[in-house]
Amino acid sequence: MMNSSAAVACLWEDRLLVGHEQMDEEHQSFALLIAALQKAPDHALDACLAELIAHATHHFAQEDAWMCKLNFPARQCHMDEHAAVLRSAGGVRLRVHGGDYQSARLFSKELAAWFPPHVQHLDSALASWICKLAWNAKPLVFHRQSRARVATATA
Ligand SMILES: [Fe+2]
Ligand SMILES: [Fe+2]
Repeated sequence: MMNSSAAVACLWEDRLLVGHEQMDEEHQSFALLIAALQKAPDHALDACLAELIAHATHHFAQEDAWMCKLNFPARQCHMDEHAAVLRSAGGVRLRVHGGDYQSARLFSKELAAWFPPHVQHLDSALASWICKLAWNAKPLVFHRQSRARVATATA
């Protein structure tokens, strides 16, 4: 996995925490991989895409399995989004093999825009469902305030 805290800072914020440890850790890795794809030079795009696809395949399969096993309501639209992302990523990788690097640049932008709302709405709902079934409670999530927001709030 790419390891750059500066890259995570571009995409990852505490507001993306859903209160499920495994999901939160995998989402942080996902954010790193998207950031790495956004910054990759042409020659590294294929490797970045391969790593991102491997991570997403594993992560999405885990979430899909939880949704099926725990009879999560409205799981089909969530699973459809996962499948659509993997289809797009696979198609983009083929284009990169053909020398179309611009498609990967566009995909990384779209993925960076897709990721936060997916986590905040669909994955957060799944984390709440898991927590409710396990403890009959909602996940408790603490969000650190960013420096920029603190500065604005105290100005
Ligand atoms: Fe997720
Ligand atoms: Fe998801």
